[in-house]
Amino acid sequence: MQEDDRSSTVTCTVNGAETSLTGRPATAASAALRQQGLFSVRETCGLGVCGTCTVLLDGEPVSTCITPLYMLEGRDVRTVEGLEEDGELSDLQTQFTESQAFQCSFCTPGFLLSASALLESSTGDLDDAAIEEGLQGHLCRCGCYESIKEAVRSCAARSASRRAGSL
Ligand code: FES
Ligand code: FES
Repeated sequence: MQEDDRSSTVTCTVNGAETSLTGRPATAASAALRQQGLFSVRETCGLGVCGTCTVLLDGEPVSTCITPLYMLEGRDVRTVEGLEEDGELSDLQTQFTESQAFQCSFCTPGFLLSASALLESSTGDLDDAAIEEGLQGHLCRCGCYESIKEAVRSCAARSASRRAGSL
């Protein structure tokens, strides 16, 4: 079977804005998003094993280097560029800075997005095992794993105490 090399346009929501992405249907979504200037989507391994190309697709982390462009049609895409809240860094982004959860920061967008999804889906404190499971598939070549876990743990504890306070 021959690969379809005709260009087509996919319409999806990217960081809250309706967006048209153009490319061959089998083009990696990471390449199409980078063409839109979303340079936080970083392609490294191209094999779905390092996590640097992660985005949230309908709220779930996916590796866009192995996600064909056509799969974005009608979906909601969030990248780190869309993680801010009212023009301010999110609680998690601020905590990453305070916990010094990065060195070169190449892996940081992917970690932030998967950690956001993890925090979104959890209702209480997160222990190390839960954080490691939620962030599996992300590699940090600078070895910042402990401070990344600390940042996520702090955010989870804050959210849990906010929730408890509002009961
Ligand atoms: S570049 Fe996509 S998982 Fe490594
Ligand atoms: S901070 Fe350098 S790869 Fe993670």
